[in-house]
Amino acid sequence: MAETGLFITFEGSEGCGKSTQIRRIAEKLRADGREVISLREPGGTPIGEQIRNLLQYDDDASAMTSEAELLLFAASRAQLVREVIRPALERGAVVLCDRFFDSTTVYQGVARALPAAEVAAINVFAVGSTLPDLTLLLDLDAAEGRLRASLRKGPVDRMEQEGGEFYEAVRRGYLELAQKNPSRFVVIDASPDESVVAASIEAAIMYRLKEVV
Ligand code: TMP
Repeated sequence: MAETGLFITFEGSEGCGKSTQIRRIAEKLRADGREVISLREPGGTPIGEQIRNLLQYDDDASAMTSEAELLLFAASRAQLVREVIRPALERGAVVLCDRFFDSTTVYQGVARALPAAEVAAINVFAVGSTLPDLTLLLDLDAAEGRLRASLRKGPVDRMEQEGGEFYEAVRRGYLELAQKNPSRFVVIDASPDESVVAASIEAAIMYRLKEVV
């Protein structure tokens, strides 16, 4: 069956404000009468949430190899695509996803330095033909992002224990990926006030919705 909804992914480093912005735009789109499904990766399905816990908070995960990490992120995504994203798109919903395969390209491929060709092949295997229509990259200075993330309440996850260089590589990796995929990516400056960032996100999404409706 043809997919008729709109699939929008949000990317960016820790502390860039993705979750707040997704909440805001989801409310706005729902108020406009659209069906909106809001998801996060890893997770979003019962299997995916268990994988999330293993990846981020499990005591034994400090011994996890980069290869195992890559495959677990891909496994969570493979489940989410088939169990939730495809059916929602087939119903015509707008699907908002907090991270998708670009996170793997950047975190595992660039920051963990796993070979790009293998990472790309695993990404394609996990998602098949379900590709984002639009990807919003919330770009923020790496040190500022880490500072914002450190001010958040809640437990520090395994990835957040990485050092400054790791997050510099993540930022660079994202910006290069956006440059290579200009028709899919919109880069949003995440440094201004929340409402200014929200307005840029809304403009990018409304523009794309007009194209598809
Ligand atoms: P978050 O829920 O705060 O965004 O945390 C998810 C963490 O997992 C974040 O550090 C990015 C990382 N991650 C990867 O390394 N690869 C991936 O494919 C995904 C989806 C997330």
